[in-house]
Amino acid sequence: MDLKALRVNGQRLQSTLEEMAQIGATPAGGVQRLTLSNEDKQARDLFVKWLEELNLEITIDEMGNIFGRRPGKNNSLPPIMSGSHVDSQPKGGRFDGILGVMGPLEVLRTLTENNIETERPIVVVDWTNEEGSRFAPAMMSSGVWAGALERDWIYDRTDINGLRFEDELIRIGYKKDVPCKKSPVHCYYEYHIEQGPILDREGLTIGAPKGILCLHWYDIYLTGEANQVGPTPMEGRHDALCAAAEMILAANELPGRMGGNMVTTVGEIQNGPNSRNIIPDKVHFTVDIRSWDDDLALNAWDLLSADFQTIADRRGCPIKIEETWRVAHSPFDEKLVQRVLDTADELGYSNLYMVSGAGHDASYMNQICPTAMIFVPSLGGRSHVEVESTTWEDCEAGANTLLHAMLKSANES
Ligand code: GLV
Ligand code: MN
Ligand code: MN
Repeated sequence: MDLKALRVNGQRLQSTLEEMAQIGATPAGGVQRLTLSNEDKQARDLFVKWLEELNLEITIDEMGNIFGRRPGKNNSLPPIMSGSHVDSQPKGGRFDGILGVMGPLEVLRTLTENNIETERPIVVVDWTNEEGSRFAPAMMSSGVWAGALERDWIYDRTDINGLRFEDELIRIGYKKDVPCKKSPVHCYYEYHIEQGPILDREGLTIGAPKGILCLHWYDIYLTGEANQVGPTPMEGRHDALCAAAEMILAANELPGRMGGNMVTTVGEIQNGPNSRNIIPDKVHFTVDIRSWDDDLALNAWDLLSADFQTIADRRGCPIKIEETWRVAHSPFDEKLVQRVLDTADELGYSNLYMVSGAGHDASYMNQICPTAMIFVPSLGGRSHVEVESTTWEDCEAGANTLLHAMLKSANES
């Protein structure tokens, strides 16, 4: 058949995404499939069933990563890979991650029903815990697979209730014996929603990021002195929440102060004992710093952590700082990025060379093989929220771009 005329089945992709969106569906139209929750397990089970229907060789490793491999004509050649994640944020959207797993699944369905063989094998993958919301850090299992993160450190990470990652992986039945360890990969494509406003605002269909910003995560623990709020005078208090409040504003003002291109966010906070009539004595909060410029982000952290110390000293609230995780900015393979742009052109889809502000497993895959991503617009630039949306037409366009970029790479000798 004329390969150039080949297209994915947009209707099938839509119904596949709609079926997945029922798992962990939230009342306001989003999903909640926290890593290693029962909903994550259900989504995995469904994904595995769909892999089985395609007769793929299925491998699940000791981190719960799920791989479906379609053999090529020459199976001694390293495969091309494409995937993302089925887990979500709490009150997340129906497209983040799952589009990048169902997209390549649709590509494989299209190849199979058209009896199209490729030179190289093709692997579709679901990486465990991309989000990092329930268990920090993010992109854990692509990180272990790529050799950038330690498996045993990850196994011991705990959620807010003290549950261990490894125990939860066993509980949902997805800890297997296969080592989580990289093997040669010809190239990796990750298909994703943009999660920002640019494509939607510009009215463009396909984005090809030149890479991903650095992500730096910190955990701050403050200790104050609890006391009855009525009788205790304002002078001499050691209020851990007030110390945190000052620090949070300092974090928010940091990008303005640095003058460069970066963003900082405090997104998670726990306050203890969290009673309206007790002065808070235990606060934990997180800091997320991102930039294309790793040095700028590191210098910013030096300034901010010094500020935190000053605030903690002034308020008499001892501070403990954990430098939890850093992943450097990730410039993708220029030829592969160009391939995405050229493929979009050939298919008649408007496109843009851009940057990814969101983190993706592609950051770690980029450390071991040529990597590129395909973005489609997020309506209103909203993501990590229940109203996150992308038109079905754009989902189909992205999948067609993925199909043809993958075909070119899979047929390279
Ligand atoms: C991943 O979802 C991120 O935080 O960008
Ligand atoms: Mn994602
Ligand atoms: Mn996400």
